[in-house]
Amino acid sequence: LAAERQGLKKGQLRLMAITTASYFAPRLLGEFAKLYPGIEVSLRVTNKEQVLASIANNLDDLYLLGQPPEGMEIESTPIMDNPIIVLAAPDHPLAKEKNISLERLAQEPWLMREKGSGTRNAIERRFAELGITVRPRLELGSNEAIKQAILTGLGISALSRHTLTLNQPGQFAVLDVQGYPILRHWYAIYPAGRQMSVAARAFLDYLLERPEQENT
Ligand code: PGA
Repeated sequence: LAAERQGLKKGQLRLMAITTASYFAPRLLGEFAKLYPGIEVSLRVTNKEQVLASIANNLDDLYLLGQPPEGMEIESTPIMDNPIIVLAAPDHPLAKEKNISLERLAQEPWLMREKGSGTRNAIERRFAELGITVRPRLELGSNEAIKQAILTGLGISALSRHTLTLNQPGQFAVLDVQGYPILRHWYAIYPAGRQMSVAARAFLDYLLERPEQENT
């Protein structure tokens, strides 16, 4: 029986996720832990710098990131969609408009994640394609801080749709903007050329075999 085989797998899984992945990683790990009660799981959630340092020093088995790092000896595989959507307060004037241009969007006060954030890079790249530079009105080091600032009417921002998983529908307006959502992915990353542990292999297989409809 598959269930019995799963129960027999033992070991430790050390997982590290970049901050924004913390919105979905615990749920995945919870499901995985139920399937594999013999595997002990730990998850560390941290910023990009520390994730890169940990990869370089081979400290964890598997990493969840929004973009595979360049110039490192790693393998990576996409595991889930990561759409970046534009969010405003529900009563924002742009909430009723369709097909908003990026030029128009750039005139709004922008709330931006810290430099080095994958989300921020994606937003800036999309603007840069049209030669637009946006000066953030406010720089905030977390998705939750940005969401609070949006709701208090300080400005707009774009975040991973996964950051809304715990929110009531309708709490934010998702703006209809040209070039959005930005279609990114979440990646599982692991050191190249090293035998994966049984636990890490089981988790990666679990991620890759989950049904498609759960992937967004
Ligand atoms: P963050 O997200 O760096 O914006 O937290 C990870 C990523 O999307 O690359």
